[in-house]
Amino acid sequence: MSMHDNLKKLQEMRQKALEGGGKARIDKQHEKGKLTARERIDLLLDKDSFEEFDAFVTHRCQDFDMDKKKILGDGVVTGYGTIDGRLVYVFSQDFTVFGGSLSETFANKICKIMDMAMKMGAPVIGLNDSGGARIQEGIMSLAGYAEIFQRNVEASGVIPQISAILGPCAGGAVYSPALTDFIIMTELTSYMFITGPKVVKTVTNENVNEEQLGGAMVHASKSGVAQFSAENEEEALGIIRKLLSYIPQNNLEEPPLFSTNDPINRIDEELADIIPDASNQPYDMKDIIYRIVDDEEFLEVSRHFAPNIITGYARFNGRSVGIVANQPNYLAGVLDINASKKAARFVRFCDAFNIPILTLVDVPGFLPGTAQEYRGIISEGAKLIYAYAEATVPKVTLITRKAYGGAYDVMSSKHLRGDVNYAWPTAEIAVMGAEGAVQILYQKELENNPSDERMKELIEEYTEKFSNPFIAASLGFIDDVIEPKNTRFRIIRAFESLVTKKLTNPLKKHGNIPL
Ligand code: HXC
Repeated sequence: MSMHDNLKKLQEMRQKALEGGGKARIDKQHEKGKLTARERIDLLLDKDSFEEFDAFVTHRCQDFDMDKKKILGDGVVTGYGTIDGRLVYVFSQDFTVFGGSLSETFANKICKIMDMAMKMGAPVIGLNDSGGARIQEGIMSLAGYAEIFQRNVEASGVIPQISAILGPCAGGAVYSPALTDFIIMTELTSYMFITGPKVVKTVTNENVNEEQLGGAMVHASKSGVAQFSAENEEEALGIIRKLLSYIPQNNLEEPPLFSTNDPINRIDEELADIIPDASNQPYDMKDIIYRIVDDEEFLEVSRHFAPNIITGYARFNGRSVGIVANQPNYLAGVLDINASKKAARFVRFCDAFNIPILTLVDVPGFLPGTAQEYRGIISEGAKLIYAYAEATVPKVTLITRKAYGGAYDVMSSKHLRGDVNYAWPTAEIAVMGAEGAVQILYQKELENNPSDERMKELIEEYTEKFSNPFIAASLGFIDDVIEPKNTRFRIIRAFESLVTKKLTNPLKKHGNIPL
């Protein structure tokens, strides 16, 4: 055949590959409010940056007449491209081809780009929309999943891995996304569960639909499995682009540095008015966050899950920082199981990828009660201690108000190798709140001689003595008590001073975080 004929054949095959499962199935995909695998890649990556691998791969299944049904690409589009000019590897499952189900060769395609991403030190982004294991292939498909799991685990902490769930994701197929760093789900068009509604009905007699069992808001707010829920696919893919802007390409690099016009020494007098006069009065910690970060930009992670703790990314003088903050506006900012797990996971990601951590503290303690104790708040809370204690990235802490008891220790205290620990003058660093302390210290006296006046007097005395930052400051546990209006500048200076921080943990195979 001449070059001309060969070129013609190439063009025809390419066109065929682009058509995926054909027009009818593409129309069906659009009718469901979903984009095709290729449309998603176009939205995700920089314009014209996508380079495809394995467009001509087909499955090898001979059973069920499958040898007569071969579609170029076999249900997953893979390759590399750029986001804001930075290299990323991507796979995008094509629901129009055998329901996006995973065959042996489909898995091989994903493994190939994961291996490339590891060699190059670049993030992997998976766009999931699949009916699960290719039923016609049986065990070959199971083997394929496990090959991916193994790579997910080896890549964990080396390159960022991000999963978008844009359609069905069920059975064992959920575990690859679960092993990645972030999950983004689209509302009403995606779901994740181990077993679907029909099996649930048979086994537990529960009546639930797919959305109720594993929709985006279920996983964003109840289970915590998804870190983001997006209204539509454009938003979901936009979140991935934004998220990557805070994250380095791999664990040996620093996050990208941005330029900002927000003055580093911007004074904010109104910060002094945020903390209410009464110590049990709530306020919104996000008011503080938005006021101190660059350009009021904050990308919140796990917004709907355990809102008593806030986690997310912002920049200080153009440098990426992970923020962990108690939220007095929700359950008084108490640390419970979900908050501890959420923050621990966030801190560990930051530490793995060289992202400094700012901790804003206003915490009354751990949540008491059987509900928490029976579910193991002891070991769940220990996760957060573990995460902070092992973190070697720069750690700056600011106590705005309460830092009581064990929760004081947990929230990036000096004792867990906090590098720069500040407090506002409103900080109350104590073993517990004044009222509780007085009830214990003067139990006998108050029982024998109950008097509201005496109680008030004792509370005031205790408050005067302990509910302030100065005892902690006199011991060096707080490096300085700072004026709220200068917070941005002081935090920026602290992080700038920590740029060259070098700290390593003892060499070990791996630690044993209380799982
Ligand atoms: C092969 C599949 C498939 C699968 C869907 N298709 N799932 N082909 N293997 N797993 C095909 C359908 O036959 C159909 O082909 C096309 O994809 C679209 O599917 P529809 O059913 O028409 O789409 P929809 O109504 O949107 O329903 C989507 C669905 C449903 C809910 C995902 O297809 C479904 O229930 N599929 C089976 C899911 C499943 O049981 N998977 C195995 C789970 S076990 P045509 O030619 O008609 O267009 C598993 C284990 C993993 O995944 C273990 C890992 C460790």
